[in-house]
Amino acid sequence: MGNSRALTLEQFISDQQAIHKEATGAFSRIFRSLELGAKMVNRDVRKAGLIDILGNQGSTNVQGEEQKKLDVIADEIFIHNLSKSGEVCMVVSEEKDAPVFVEGSENAAYIICIDPLDGSSNIDVNASIGTIFSVFKRDNTNSAPTLNDCFRKGTEQVAAGYFIYGSSTMLVYTTGDGVNGFTLDDGIQEFCLSHPEIKIPEDGKIFSINEGNYADFPTGVKTFVEYCKTKDKESGRPYGARYIGSLIADFHRNLLKGGIFIYPPTEKTPNGKLRLLYECNPMSFIVEQAGGRSSTGKMRVLEVQPTELHQRVPLFIGSKNMVEKAMDLMGNLGEKTSL
Ligand code: AHG
Ligand code: MN
Ligand code: MN
Repeated sequence: MGNSRALTLEQFISDQQAIHKEATGAFSRIFRSLELGAKMVNRDVRKAGLIDILGNQGSTNVQGEEQKKLDVIADEIFIHNLSKSGEVCMVVSEEKDAPVFVEGSENAAYIICIDPLDGSSNIDVNASIGTIFSVFKRDNTNSAPTLNDCFRKGTEQVAAGYFIYGSSTMLVYTTGDGVNGFTLDDGIQEFCLSHPEIKIPEDGKIFSINEGNYADFPTGVKTFVEYCKTKDKESGRPYGARYIGSLIADFHRNLLKGGIFIYPPTEKTPNGKLRLLYECNPMSFIVEQAGGRSSTGKMRVLEVQPTELHQRVPLFIGSKNMVEKAMDLMGNLGEKTSL
């Protein structure tokens, strides 16, 4: 039976605007465009296999990674919708070498960094995938944006969130005032509040890391992995190993249940694999707003000063006590993640 008292995303945002006087209509127009993009991608994901969107595009992105057709389709969908919002002056996308400067919106205030399709390797095998976004606001809108406007610390984000196309389609986001989750009601095609004020458990019993790279892990990371696998009744170890290969799915499970996700430095990826601007920063903003922690292994992710558009950082993210335990055991690689 439908819930006649469902709170839609639009209603939630306008309630927030009533509370936070500084919130303007621009914000809801940006979220409207993100929401529209997600509904379009969701429509395609749910039909994948029936329409020609599976498989490789036959091109590579700036990261030298094979682009899947849905990577490119999702990128086009979100850039189109964000450009049409009239509120976005620049989009940094995983799938684009350089920022997209939005024509006709040179004086718009907002900058969006986006991973249009996270978990590409899972598209063809029907495992959960998603979209990750990070929102910055320019103070000076008198001139057109420049590349430099993207190089702001994660602490300066005004919003961050993700859409997960899983057993249900959800939006989870923060504007710095806690974390809320919305589930897409297919019947009315509206995202409705389903997970108000999400808090990540301070302790968890799940660790997520690609142990295929174990031989390459720094010693400190090996020490923490062995700690997770050691039998110790009192602390509930060994922990459960869960790794889907989509950051979004591994992160979402750990956010709700408690746990730690690690993408450490490896020989192939000495700075880790995940990108600061549109994967690590948005997920770190969300996890901290939910009471968790996020570190590069040397410092708080949100404090990293970006210098390159697609730069990567190692990522240790999740339950407060698990991230801090990892930092303690990792010694030189791990410094405190105090906020
Ligand atoms: P993307 O599909 O946007 O390139 O991201 C994939 C990322 C992330 O989602 C996931 O956690 C990680 O790649 C998995 O990497 P490995 O396959 O090397 O473990
Ligand atoms: Mn990704
Ligand atoms: Mn991606």
